[in-house]
Amino acid sequence: MKHFSHFLLLAAGLAACTTAPPATSPVALAAPTLAAPVPMATPVVASKAMVTSAHPEATRIGVEVLQRGGNAYDAAVAVQFALAVALPVAGNIGGGGFVLYRGADGREGALDFRETAPAAATRDMYLDAAGNVIPNLSTRGHRAAGVPGTVAGMWALHQKLGKLPWRDVVEPAAQLALGGVTLTKKEATGLNDNRTAFARFTPQGNAYMRPDASTYDLGTYSNPQPDFRPWQAGDVIKYVQLARTLGRIRDQGAAGFYAGETADLLVAEMKRGGGLITKTDLAAYQPKWRTPLKGSYRGYEVLTFPPPSSGGVALLQMLQMLEPYNLQAAGWHAPEAVHWLTEAQRRVYADRATYLGDPDFGRVPVVQLLDPTYNRRRMASVQPRRATPSAQVAAGTGLPAYESDQTTHYNIVDAQGNAVSCTTTLNGAYGSKVVVAGAGFLLNNEMDDFSSKPGTPNAYGLVGGAANAIAPGKRMLSSMTPTILLKDNKLALLIGTPGGSTIITSVLQGIINVIDYGQNAQQAVAAPRLHHQWLPDQLDVEAGALLPAAQDTLRARGYQLNARSPWGRLEIIRVLPDGRLEGGADPRGDDNAAGY
Ligand code: DON
Repeated sequence: MKHFSHFLLLAAGLAACTTAPPATSPVALAAPTLAAPVPMATPVVASKAMVTSAHPEATRIGVEVLQRGGNAYDAAVAVQFALAVALPVAGNIGGGGFVLYRGADGREGALDFRETAPAAATRDMYLDAAGNVIPNLSTRGHRAAGVPGTVAGMWALHQKLGKLPWRDVVEPAAQLALGGVTLTKKEATGLNDNRTAFARFTPQGNAYMRPDASTYDLGTYSNPQPDFRPWQAGDVIKYVQLARTLGRIRDQGAAGFYAGETADLLVAEMKRGGGLITKTDLAAYQPKWRTPLKGSYRGYEVLTFPPPSSGGVALLQMLQMLEPYNLQAAGWHAPEAVHWLTEAQRRVYADRATYLGDPDFGRVPVVQLLDPTYNRRRMASVQPRRATPSAQVAAGTGLPAYESDQTTHYNIVDAQGNAVSCTTTLNGAYGSKVVVAGAGFLLNNEMDDFSSKPGTPNAYGLVGGAANAIAPGKRMLSSMTPTILLKDNKLALLIGTPGGSTIITSVLQGIINVIDYGQNAQQAVAAPRLHHQWLPDQLDVEAGALLPAAQDTLRARGYQLNARSPWGRLEIIRVLPDGRLEGGADPRGDDNAAGY
């Protein structure tokens, strides 16, 4: 990886002499000879309304709700519940998420249905007696689960903004569960890869394991009998228990999940596996309405999600840092553009690790972090032709005095122009891998999004400290970044993705791909991506993201390039100048866009 010729170093050095800009001013740049070509991709276009989601069944159900006269909020609830059935890897009722919306009347809002730490959680609950993090305790099994927020969130969203009766928007998912879902290749592989974990945490068996799988002796599970046939694309799974749970939610609203039979089953599951969630935790769970964050980028207004997401703050910081630079002239994924992007990402993730956490449990200096002077000053230390080692980058200091955050994303625009951008998660693939016996749904492993120990990386390599330490009732810091862009006060773009720590930088690149590089919605989601998160000090690179010559130039500047398999499932809906809707659904997944 690290070899490069002296010739290239010299060439890079010469190039530096001709085009080095001052770090914070707009500049005209030399011809983008090392810019990578953007692959062609054709978006879906609809004239009135559109849904993009990570599963065709969920998209279909969303579009049908819209066609029946439901609004974007009704469709969001229907899509969320449909994903809980069709996309077990991430769609959920046992997890949480964030909805950002902007109504046709211009009103906007942010609903936080993030999971919370159970009342019995403690700061050091994942540490051993020597103070070291116990591997896998925060990511697998019953103790990894936070109190789920999804059903309460959907109920609150529908109560405030829905138009169709609640039961009409939940019923399609219940029907889907009962009728069964045809597995795609990707989902079949995911379930097969996780069968050992499912068997371990749900020894009584569950719908996600092939029926014959539950007959295996656990000790020999990883060495299945010769007649064992794993899931294959085209197999149909019927989720009978989940259909009953969805039926209770349909008939009783949020109480169909947080009380009665579902709550009994969830708490019994916790007791069986040594988890912490109690009936009191379930009864106490409340989603929270928050105020969307607002920023701007090249004439667009950017609405995004506030803490306990780190995503909105970090996105707006990076956009502020990058606006002075002429990314377009530098060329798409040319070394100069990558240099600026990476240095902005590095600095912002250092801030994230130190300052961000649940705002209900400590001061989060949002105003200060979004101060343009502060962010310009952060970029002043960028060296023109040299990576700044992360070891030399700490969280920013001198903030102005205090003045008083596997996952899936969907976007929906209805015929009236109401817009919903929602990211929702179990955290890891299939969450904690715990399926609530009798209720048939997967529980999250969101507790790993807390910082179990200051400085020790979580599953996404993110570090944190006191601001994101575990406390009862507290929400763990998130990177989910549902975002909506306006131009001249009119809806322009909806965007979001899963991907853990990479969410924020994927959203950033999606926005830049459209605004700076003029890509259509499908190109913008499909284009290969880059990612830097301060620590580890490396630039993750998807195949095709950088020309070989650009890679050499970046290595010569001191960047550690890390080839990484594809990440994220970015979804975009863009409003075209003539008012039609253009949908981009990430080809990395089974995602799709549809409308009418
Ligand atoms: O809230 C967060 O930031 C994480 N729990 C999201 C996890 C995720 O995106 C996993 N998907 N690949």
